[in-house]
Amino acid sequence: MIQRRTVGIIGTGNVGVAAAYALFNQRIASEIILVDQNKEKAEGEAMDLMHGQLLVGNVKVRSGSYEDLKHTQVIIITAGVGQKSPDESRLELLNRNASVFKDIISKLDKHAPNAILIIATNPVDILTYVSQKLSTREPHRIIGTGTLLDTARFRALLGEYYGVDPRSVHAYILGEHGDSEVPIWSQANIGGKPIEHNTIMDKPYNREALDTLFQKAKNAAYEIIERKGFTNTAIGVVIARIVEGILEDEKSVIPVSVYWDNEYGITDVCMSLQSVIGLDGVKDRITPDITDEEIEGLSKSANVLKESLAGIKE
Ligand code: 2OP
Repeated sequence: MIQRRTVGIIGTGNVGVAAAYALFNQRIASEIILVDQNKEKAEGEAMDLMHGQLLVGNVKVRSGSYEDLKHTQVIIITAGVGQKSPDESRLELLNRNASVFKDIISKLDKHAPNAILIIATNPVDILTYVSQKLSTREPHRIIGTGTLLDTARFRALLGEYYGVDPRSVHAYILGEHGDSEVPIWSQANIGGKPIEHNTIMDKPYNREALDTLFQKAKNAAYEIIERKGFTNTAIGVVIARIVEGILEDEKSVIPVSVYWDNEYGITDVCMSLQSVIGLDGVKDRITPDITDEEIEGLSKSANVLKESLAGIKE
């Protein structure tokens, strides 16, 4: 029996712990179960979080096994291996992570076949696609965190530039969570006023400055990794936001990595698109009228991902 607001997290590395902390601190879940190959690490993280219960409220956190996930509503996968050495290619790393996922997905299909899966491990679009192919669950029940993180970074930077609340900036980054991602400038607006060709908050339209902001959002992970070695806190709140949309059956429109079935003429790939998220996973996708150039950018993104997918060994 699925229990309401129970969430499992596979992997208690930096990202898994940040997601657990966000879910705990915001009281989005009522119970969080941490699963890690390293049982002691999962136990330690659960203990540490539980000691904040007095201050946060009634959220239970415990460590457990795959068997313990049987009643969970949502399971987040953050597990994966890192680069063995600087010489290891992305494709070699991808192949190792794909084989880790084979094992994880088969265990989840066995023990928690009805949970919605959220994939956070990189390369997230590829691993979302691989998970959809491996799993017995329907593709709309497997969601990758995708460009919600890039979109959050983009809106934070645009908000700062214009001196407005990022929540009043409506702008999306779609496609790959990575180098080929696409800013959808044609739809970007602040309070309904298109950003392109307009003066907003006394800032005249400046194409170059706006392009720089997009580059900053796109390259944020590199900048952060250079300084602290990894990124985790923003992806933690991104994961919590997606979980909230599901658990509360919000039907919020969120840019996440989903299966493309002829949207803008693009098929058979997972990457980000504005998606309506609720209890059953992805309910629908929204495809506004974007420019031909933007569609071309998304097609290129799809091709980049398809090339990587073609390199994965069976
Ligand atoms: C990030 O964008 C590395 O995907 C991770 O922060």
